[in-house]
Amino acid sequence: MKQFFHIGIAISVAFWAVFLNAQQSDPHLIYEENCAECHVPHAGDFVSDKLVATDDGLAGKASGRPVIDYLKAGHGKLSDQEIDVLIEQFEFIQGTGRLFKEKCIICHDNAAKFARLKLILRDDILTGRYTDRDVAEFLLQHGRLDAFEAQKMVEVLKRQLQVR
Ligand code: HEC
Ligand code: HEC
Repeated sequence: MKQFFHIGIAISVAFWAVFLNAQQSDPHLIYEENCAECHVPHAGDFVSDKLVATDDGLAGKASGRPVIDYLKAGHGKLSDQEIDVLIEQFEFIQGTGRLFKEKCIICHDNAAKFARLKLILRDDILTGRYTDRDVAEFLLQHGRLDAFEAQKMVEVLKRQLQVR
């Protein structure tokens, strides 16, 4: 359940483009390599457990301080470019989490569990484990998503299968 709670941010098309780009340098690893030694193992859980959306972007729940301020002040020792990528990843997680909560959770109670039980990656294509469905196509007709949302949802479900 937790992974997809506490959500609240809109995602821009511009962000999406950056996200796809950034993916080539595997943004998950920024969190895993620089933050996980002190915080929870996965970025998704970190966002839902520790962060909250505010008018100034994502902030720490405990301190109320914007995450970007923390990071720019040297917490976690990231370069400016890594900070941008990580903040974008956090916002992506939060935005799609909200989408899942609004539109899917009523029937599929938890995105991480749902993905791991029902879906599988075949040649990097997100597929129904037992139905052999192409999920990207299926979601154009299922769950009342527009095409853009469907694409994001595929990405987030895929990521559930990629994190170990
Ligand atoms: C050497 C240990 C350590 C590392 C590495 C580290 N942190 Fe932290 N971080 C802490 C501690 C300790 C706190 C304060 C206690 C808490 O809130 O968990 C904290 C607090 C935070 C907070 C504020 C939470 C709040 O509720 O206000 C954020 C945001 C944060 N860290 C993000 C990160 C990110 C992102 C990274 C990786 C780039 C990172 N930290 C790396 C130890 C670390
Ligand atoms: C009203 C209930 C309901 C809602 C809301 C709903 N689903 Fe479903 N979903 C189902 C049912 C029932 C099935 C199984 C249908 C089947 O296999 O023919 C299913 C199947 C799926 C599958 C295919 C699984 C497989 O094994 O092939 C995916 C992927 C999926 N849903 C994702 C989503 C996403 C993402 C959302 C939100 C955007 C969503 N669903 C919203 C009821 C729902």
